[in-house]
Amino acid sequence: MQGVTKRFPTGTVALTDVSMSLDSGEFVTVVGPSGCGKSTLLRLASGLETATGGSIEVSARATSYVFQDATLLEWRTALRNVELVGELRGASREERRSRARAALDLVGLTGFESQHPRQLSGGMRMRVSLARALVAEPDLALFDEPFGALDEITRLQMQTELQRIFRQERFAGLFITHSVSEAVYLSTRVLVMSGRPGRIVAEIPIPWDYPRPPELRYSAEFGEITGRVSTALGEHS
Ligand SMILES: Nc1ncnc2c1ncn2[C@@H]1O[C@H](COP(=O)(O)OP(=O)(O)OP(=O)(O)O)[C@@H](O)[C@H]1O
Ligand SMILES: [Mg+2]
Repeated sequence: MQGVTKRFPTGTVALTDVSMSLDSGEFVTVVGPSGCGKSTLLRLASGLETATGGSIEVSARATSYVFQDATLLEWRTALRNVELVGELRGASREERRSRARAALDLVGLTGFESQHPRQLSGGMRMRVSLARALVAEPDLALFDEPFGALDEITRLQMQTELQRIFRQERFAGLFITHSVSEAVYLSTRVLVMSGRPGRIVAEIPIPWDYPRPPELRYSAEFGEITGRVSTALGEHS
């Protein structure tokens, strides 16, 4: 993205002069105050929305999108929810089924394939949603606050899982969150946005390799980096 601006027909300017890039192997997280244009940024990256200024270039072959809510089809089992992606692409029944099983296994849901969403916990529903995003083998994965609705314990578990999956699958990740510690724990780089109209006001590289042990969150260096992100947020909200 180069100098991207988004003005809605209502006159609201959601983003001004946003420039950013994302390479394969990177997991970039965007934090910023509510309403600053984070979801808009993701929608622009996915092509769901078009910019009113600047330019966006996406070279990904396959892009997936994970929403804040699991957005599952209630009348389909976990397996059939994940299979939907293959169905829409016209994959054979066998192929889409084996891929869906592998994706559910990746998110730790083997044994729950035939449960319906209402029979799963909130964290498990989010796992199904993640599996549905990963089954397409994306090279770009977009996440819009996927863990925001989960309780703290499940949320920390999902963070650990996601960085394990990221390390294994190596897609480029663009992740939106309100949680500074989630951003620092997951990412290779954190971008801080100002209040609306959003622009990028700080870029903080995260030094650790993957996998990252959960205890990393209690280290002094982790505290120092989250402090820097929070300070940047506080100065520009
Ligand atoms: N389709 C739309 N039409 C008009 N205005 C919109 C539209 N979508 C978003 N906006 C406005 O653009 C601004 C940014 O919205 P956006 O959803 O990107 O914020 P956000 O950073 O994701 O907020 P949150 O953290 O609460 O999810 C808001 O002021 C919102 O009202
Ligand atoms: Mg949003």
